[in-house]
Amino acid sequence: MKIIAIANHKGGVGKTATAHALGTVLATDYDWQVLLVDIDPQSSLTGACGVGDTAGEGLAEVLGGATPGDIAMSEVITQLDDGLYLAPADLALAATELGLVSRMGRENVLKKALATVNGDYDVAIVDCPPSLGLLTLNALTAADAVLIPTQPQVVDLRGLRLFMDTLDQIRVELNPELETLGVLPTFYDRRLNHHKAALGAMERAGLPLMESQIGRSVRVAEAAASGETVVTYEPKNPQAEAYRGLAQEINQWLKSKVNR
Ligand SMILES: Nc1ncnc2c1ncn2[C@@H]1O[C@H](COP(=O)(O)OP(=O)(O)O)[C@@H](O)[C@H]1O
Ligand SMILES: [Mg+2]
Repeated sequence: MKIIAIANHKGGVGKTATAHALGTVLATDYDWQVLLVDIDPQSSLTGACGVGDTAGEGLAEVLGGATPGDIAMSEVITQLDDGLYLAPADLALAATELGLVSRMGRENVLKKALATVNGDYDVAIVDCPPSLGLLTLNALTAADAVLIPTQPQVVDLRGLRLFMDTLDQIRVELNPELETLGVLPTFYDRRLNHHKAALGAMERAGLPLMESQIGRSVRVAEAAASGETVVTYEPKNPQAEAYRGLAQEINQWLKSKVNR
């Protein structure tokens, strides 16, 4: 099982929408066995998957806090569709993050939990919270690769550089094998000069850009509100097409890593 973290220290950049759409297309169009992993205490991915209350059986109970959790990873995973599964989250993960501070091996907790289901899925897609706290560090320690959704704004460039520097630190201290899949421009509008300028600045700064770009569509938010992703909600929507393009890029990467 390969593990992809969808991460950015900023919120509202489309991490959750990307995790959900990417996982859905990889499962339905490419027949991978996909595990979506929600490690955001705000549990937007869990909500967008149409899963309500986890009834005390979510990732918080698997990961634990100051002390190890008391439920197995496999027990909290629910099937969403053919080849598509979810390890759900709820607000209890906020307490997990606080508790982890005093836990021995605190950065490795998610990695160990995912190792217990390693043979059951081809790929796990981990939707990170909008911070560089211990939950995100756990995701980046567990991950084989990271995808970084970003709004194309020049003012965000410095923050993005700092995030990339953090990835370098994580490679030195915690996870030497961590690959960068790339920066994914989201909410991108090619008609806006300042968006084009931001993309140009990212390229000149040597940031590894994905070939795909995700534009803005109210259907993306509508889909999430009705427990779906735009790729199933409105398959002909240009942003559904954009997510399929992204999935094609990730599928290439996955094929080079996983034998089946
Ligand atoms: N491409 C898009 N077009 C329009 N709205 C989007 C798009 N992607 C995400 N959204 C909406 O914007 C908000 C933030 O997106 P989300 O994926 O939750 O970001 P993050 O996980 O980075 O905080 C959500 O309401 C989501 O439905
Ligand atoms: Mg999110």
